[in-house]
Amino acid sequence: MFDFFKKNKKTLTIDENLKIFVDFHSHLLPGIDDGCATLDESVENILELQSQGIKKIITTPHIFSEAYPNTPEIINEKLELLKSVLAEKKIEIEITAAAEYYLDEWFCKNYKNLKLLTIKENHLLVETNYMEKPYFMEQILFDLQLDGYKIILAHPERYNYLLNDFRQFDKFFDTGILFQCNLLSFTGYYSPQIKKAALHLLKNKMIHLVGSDIHKLRHTKAISAFKKTNEYSELLNLGLMNNELW
Ligand SMILES: [Fe+2]
Repeated sequence: MFDFFKKNKKTLTIDENLKIFVDFHSHLLPGIDDGCATLDESVENILELQSQGIKKIITTPHIFSEAYPNTPEIINEKLELLKSVLAEKKIEIEITAAAEYYLDEWFCKNYKNLKLLTIKENHLLVETNYMEKPYFMEQILFDLQLDGYKIILAHPERYNYLLNDFRQFDKFFDTGILFQCNLLSFTGYYSPQIKKAALHLLKNKMIHLVGSDIHKLRHTKAISAFKKTNEYSELLNLGLMNNELW
């Protein structure tokens, strides 16, 4: 038993090359989704991310027809506004924007006619309802892949419909969907069950990417504490793809 604790106390070392300097999932543009409400909040969060070693940010407001009907125009306007404030305050960080697309019937019907905001050419960040698996999920993911998109599934560990049997993750993983876990999931911030699912994915090396998914400063601060843990080192030692997305 004592050996067990000793083993867990050992701090894992991280190769400099494995450190993450790109964060590509967050809600930092003010007032257009459930993330930062004001420019001041946006700046506070960005400074906190910067203090954690993040040098490049791709922020991803929700595009969700029912709740946040954002468009590339709305997103780009807010991005430019934020960039001008960062420049005024002489905060040196690279920031751009894409989106987190909510897969609903509206999206399925309309996506072919939309200019989708992608990350690094053709990566598309998507999410679904947390409780119920959409009946069209496999089909839309397949169609998007056929259309040439590389799908990043945001926080697979947070979908209730996958948590009753972790083998359900394999089906999506095996079709080439990229899994992006939220850093906060490993801390138990959302729920013990979500933490268990995140640790399952970590143990089975089924994580391609991690994201902060920050909405508020309390998230960003909680992530700072997590970055000092062995689980975070274990995650980095998987050799995540984050830095390739810039
Ligand atoms: Fe998000």
